[in-house]
Amino acid sequence: MKILITGGAGFIGSATAKKLMDRGDKVVLIDNFNNYYDPRLKEARIKKFLKGYKFTPTPKRRGRGGKSLVWGFKLYRGDIRDHKLLEKIFKKEKLDKVVHLAALAGVRNSLLDPKSYADVNIMGSINLLEMAAKYKIKNFVFASSSSVYGNNKKQPFSENDSVDTPISPYAASKKADELLAHVYHHIYGLNITALRYFTVYGPWGRPDMALFLFADGIMKGKPIKVFNRGKMSRNFSYIDDIVSGTITVLDKCKGYGIMNIGGDKEETLMRYIEVLEDNLGKKAKKKLMPMQPGDVPSTVADIKKLRKLGWKPKTRIEEGIKNFVEWYKDYYKIK
Ligand SMILES: NC(=O)c1ccc[n+]([C@@H]2O[C@H](COP(=O)([O-])OP(=O)(O)OC[C@H]3O[C@@H](n4cnc5c(N)ncnc54)[C@H](O)[C@@H]3O)[C@@H](O)[C@H]2O)c1
Repeated sequence: MKILITGGAGFIGSATAKKLMDRGDKVVLIDNFNNYYDPRLKEARIKKFLKGYKFTPTPKRRGRGGKSLVWGFKLYRGDIRDHKLLEKIFKKEKLDKVVHLAALAGVRNSLLDPKSYADVNIMGSINLLEMAAKYKIKNFVFASSSSVYGNNKKQPFSENDSVDTPISPYAASKKADELLAHVYHHIYGLNITALRYFTVYGPWGRPDMALFLFADGIMKGKPIKVFNRGKMSRNFSYIDDIVSGTITVLDKCKGYGIMNIGGDKEETLMRYIEVLEDNLGKKAKKKLMPMQPGDVPSTVADIKKLRKLGWKPKTRIEEGIKNFVEWYKDYYKIK
């Protein structure tokens, strides 16, 4: 199989690429390496995390990669809003499937720059759906988000719950993607699944997310902001489980569908911090803060639908955070 991963230098994208290559798939990545968070981490995911996999340079960067003809991955540095570039990629690469993960992520940031979120997350997704329909892609799996559930009172969140009242531009953009996906399924018969990811964490993770911010604060002896005074809970989802679930859907799902994908244990934010403190060997200075606009106190996933495909999350936060801290210390050379 030859699979396009958009957002391939991102947290989930790079880990998905690795797993697919491990089993022998050919992977094409596109990413614009934007500076929403430190792009050096995105570069490092390509150069270090994916080190050892055969790398074919794209035309612009010819000469910088290996010369081998053996396929591993190919990287396009570019924007999913660039329709011409996408047309070129789809025409040339003869892709079988697409994992569409490129997006502006981050609930809080979307309140500051809602237009960019609409532009990238909605217009960018339309570009990809257009290409997928035109080039008869066999399966299209894309990242939606648990944030579409907004302030849903019923727990756990089920795919059957109404999600018509998002509370951030980010959530609204993901809901819009789910609606558009249905259009492309209905009109062009695309097989397409929206994956509603629930708070993903782990090695090579995102510096704008809580675990990373907490680790930075604790190591620097700075206070960490604990929102809603710590009265928060999440189905924290370990990256390896998220990747295996994403690939399960890519392999097995047909038609149109929406799937929750997340850990199976509700953990409080305070427990999450405690496990992090234990692994870093240092106590946090907690600054208790009120709830942030756009954020939700609790997200718990009903994952029965994805379980029926034979997938189950395996990693507890005790193991996942340990792995994160090992990576974090190694990457930032912290003794
Ligand atoms: N990590 C989570 O907890 C989580 C939860 C819910 C949903 N999601 C969704 O999953 C997907 C992947 O998330 P992630 O955590 O890996 O985030 P990430 O920011 O690490 O990865 C996204 C990648 O997309 C790239 N990108 C952004 N705009 C682009 C554009 N216009 N053209 C090309 N590339 C572009 C970025 O440079 C980045 O490398 C996103 O769609 C996100 O909204 C993530």
